[in-house]
Amino acid sequence: MQTVLITGASSGIGLATAVELAKRNWSVLATMRDLERRSDLDRQARAANVSEHVIVRQLDVTNSQSIDSLVASVNDGPLDAVVHNAGISAGGAFEDLDDALVRTIMEVNFFDVHSRGGCYRNFGRSDTGAS
Ligand SMILES: NC(=O)c1ccc[n+]([C@@H]2O[C@H](COP(=O)([O-])OP(=O)(O)OC[C@H]3O[C@@H](n4cnc5c(N)ncnc54)[C@H](OP(=O)(O)O)[C@@H]3O)[C@@H](O)[C@H]2O)c1
Repeated sequence: MQTVLITGASSGIGLATAVELAKRNWSVLATMRDLERRSDLDRQARAANVSEHVIVRQLDVTNSQSIDSLVASVNDGPLDAVVHNAGISAGGAFEDLDDALVRTIMEVNFFDVHSRGGCYRNFGRSDTGAS
């Protein structure tokens, strides 16, 4: 069975991808920044009869400590795939958007994947140095 980590699996595309891949016999590490928002995923995984293939863990992609904790706590690595789904967006004319908001969007949607994405390669290794 192959293992996939999905970020932002509490809703939308991330949630749907988690359930769909579990149905296709993947072992899914479904992560979300707030575990109190896991009920929709739990319900849909139960309905699809794939709960045993879906492990839910906390992960905020903007927080290096959160990534390190997850890497250190999981012994099932290495991962076969990572779905960098977590993201935020904003509506309205681009030039009218608040500058701080645009920077946050770029941090979450782009720089976090670039700067921190490599951390996920450490899954299942005993020499991660993660605390
Ligand atoms: N739907 C579209 O038409 C569309 C188009 C282009 C691109 N996208 C991109 O596709 C992805 C999924 O979109 P969606 O429509 O499914 O949106 P969504 O329902 O808003 O899902 C986004 C997910 O990202 C999570 N998230 C946000 N910041 C996070 C962080 N710092 N750490 C971990 N998780 C975080 C959210 O978690 P919380 O529940 O905690 O907020 C949520 O689960 C996003 O990256 C979005 O930008 C979507």
